[in-house]
Amino acid sequence: MRSTHRRSRSSLRLIAIATSALLLLPTGGKFLAQFPGQTPVVKGPWQDKSKTPDERADLLIAQMTLDEKVSLLHGPGFARIFRAPGVEAPTISLGNAGYIPGIARLGIPDLQMADAAVGVTHGSAFGRYCTVLPSGESEASSWNTDIAREYGKLIGTELREQGYTMSLGGGIDLAREPRNGRIFEYKGEDPILAGTLVGAEMKALQEQGVMGDIKHYAMNDSENGRSFVDIIADKRAMRESDLLAFEIGVKESGVSAVMCSYNLVNHDYACENDWLLNDVLKKDVGFQGFVISDWGATHSTVKAVMAGLDMQMPEDTYLGDALKKAVQDGQVPASRVDNMVHRLLRSEFAVGLFDRPLSRTAVDPNPGLEVAEKVADEGTVLLKNANGQLPLSASGIKSIAVIGSHADVGVLSGGGSAQVDAPGGNAVTRAGGNQQFGGAVWDPSSPLRAIRNKAPDAQVQYNDGSDPASAADLAKSADVAIVFVNQHTSEGRDVSGLSLPEKQDDLVSAVAAANPHTIVVLETGGAVTMPWVDNVSAVLAAWYPGIRGAQAIADILFGDVNPSAKLPLTFPKSEADLPHPTLATQPPPGPGDLKAPFPGSSFRMNTRQFEINDDEGVKVGYKWYDAENKQVLFPFGYGLSYTTYAYSDLKVTQGSSPSVSFEVKNTGSRAGAEIAEVYVGLPASANEPPKRLVAWQRVELAPGESKTVTLEINPHYMSIFDEQKSAWELAPGDYKVMVGGSSRTLPLSGTFNVPGM
Ligand code: BGC
Repeated sequence: MRSTHRRSRSSLRLIAIATSALLLLPTGGKFLAQFPGQTPVVKGPWQDKSKTPDERADLLIAQMTLDEKVSLLHGPGFARIFRAPGVEAPTISLGNAGYIPGIARLGIPDLQMADAAVGVTHGSAFGRYCTVLPSGESEASSWNTDIAREYGKLIGTELREQGYTMSLGGGIDLAREPRNGRIFEYKGEDPILAGTLVGAEMKALQEQGVMGDIKHYAMNDSENGRSFVDIIADKRAMRESDLLAFEIGVKESGVSAVMCSYNLVNHDYACENDWLLNDVLKKDVGFQGFVISDWGATHSTVKAVMAGLDMQMPEDTYLGDALKKAVQDGQVPASRVDNMVHRLLRSEFAVGLFDRPLSRTAVDPNPGLEVAEKVADEGTVLLKNANGQLPLSASGIKSIAVIGSHADVGVLSGGGSAQVDAPGGNAVTRAGGNQQFGGAVWDPSSPLRAIRNKAPDAQVQYNDGSDPASAADLAKSADVAIVFVNQHTSEGRDVSGLSLPEKQDDLVSAVAAANPHTIVVLETGGAVTMPWVDNVSAVLAAWYPGIRGAQAIADILFGDVNPSAKLPLTFPKSEADLPHPTLATQPPPGPGDLKAPFPGSSFRMNTRQFEINDDEGVKVGYKWYDAENKQVLFPFGYGLSYTTYAYSDLKVTQGSSPSVSFEVKNTGSRAGAEIAEVYVGLPASANEPPKRLVAWQRVELAPGESKTVTLEINPHYMSIFDEQKSAWELAPGDYKVMVGGSSRTLPLSGTFNVPGM
């Protein structure tokens, strides 16, 4: 699967370059005046802006033939010259992941879709610059919807500037399996935190006039065998965990699209799963937009369409002529096709695609650099700081050893379709390989240089860490040793374990044995284990920190930024503590296996499917470790600051819409920001894990300052899902409220009662 995907992407990239050259060629004696994505304005009643997006969509649909409707429901992937029926000049894709030509006679714009989870991808094929943002985990570590909004706004702006009309970002699958290779694209293990942040990000992205997408729906919580795996899970657990994240994300943003995933859920592919798509997403959640298949994840026509799939990507195997025929044969009602088109067009009207013509410009890097640095400042988590090791004092240090992880030239990024091209190329040329699926890409942001800038009078030397003994020698001679370690993760495969790869644990241990002032900086997709943690003095989780990562790391190391980030996922002590200690893998290939389906083949797989039973149910992340009474390395919600905070005076109002108020005081000598967290324990009759995060707030505090924080608790977030009644309800009884600075440091507690009916 992976290698086919890889081949097709790189060869299509060549086609893309050839294609963009064609823009300059005469067609039928005329030069193409339009650039991709630009659509002529056509007058019609649907242009009346005083009408709602739904009314405008219906007015437009009334003008369309069946062929035109079907043509909007699938399209080629990657770069293609595409000649739309009846149109003389070909329209041209911008060469990113997806393209659906519009309908010029009605002024319906092209859909130019770009992968854009952590920034807009595929820039380098066209000589374009795009900002490499810190990973989704970094964004989530801010717990800050303002940061999520800036993240979304920047991606939306850069999409528009390049003529794209739709993002394929918005990853929100929960970190149920901590070895998942795509955790770096997502927002952690808690549905309310993840949903709230993705909702804020998508809302801001769509405000820039492009359509957003939330993915991968649903339960695509691991990558190994993702097209073959049948996730077995109970409905209540799904509604209260992964599906709740999607529900919140959709409701908070009014996002245009939800991408259904490769895997099966309870024996039906996600893209033809009536319960997931129709019952939950469209009916219960009230999603108004369209369901788009992940690339190659469509497996049928009638079943998929009647289950709620609205768009096949890429190719037309199922939702092209086969759909038209199914309508003509009466297997799919014409009204269902109208509904599919309606969902697309109403989303285009809602974000303003008809009202704000695209105008392509070069991306200005400066706003992106600012946002990237801000996200990394707020997203880098200080995990350990023994004896006030940090912040470093530039004037007090004579020598610093910087070790490992190519810290002389760059910071690591995550791979796969979310890979944003590093400006100027991979900083580590020998890592080489495919920018998307194979080799790791280091963004050109040099921690060594940033550290030298902070401590100009110190001797700052670099050792690449390949030989622990020589790294230890350098460390021994320095006042402080800063060891950078990494774990490369990518779409399409899970990491085999939570240990740092390539014997980096040995490297850290050797350096720590040589220097008592050893600081470890992690560049990882998600959690890793740390057998050396007791022997080092400080640990910083920088995730994949983006194009200004080095500056943000140095700002925190030297105290120009006081860290405020909190973990959006648990760091377990060992893999033995996970719900599934052994990572599930696809059965080995055997006789009867069919070839991988990408892109868009009529592949059906029924011989090598395998099941993963998500029997931990709702107990995702901290809920598992709490319920199972397990110690962890660093808990969910945890993160240190260079100051300290005290919590007091909890007041809880009673009833089914309670609110809490409490004081947070900065008890140290530096200004800082504390993320105050509120958890609720449900009555025993609810049969739930000990607690759920229900609210939080970032509080900026000067030294000695106190603030009162008042937070409403959304009753939905305390509810349980009754599978029999297919409804949410609040269990009557006593609820425990717990408040503090991490899921395992909750100094304040109180109760409220929800009376029975
Ligand atoms: C990924 C999606 C991505 C799509 C298009 C798929 O392999 O799972 O997240 O948007 O490719 O590149």
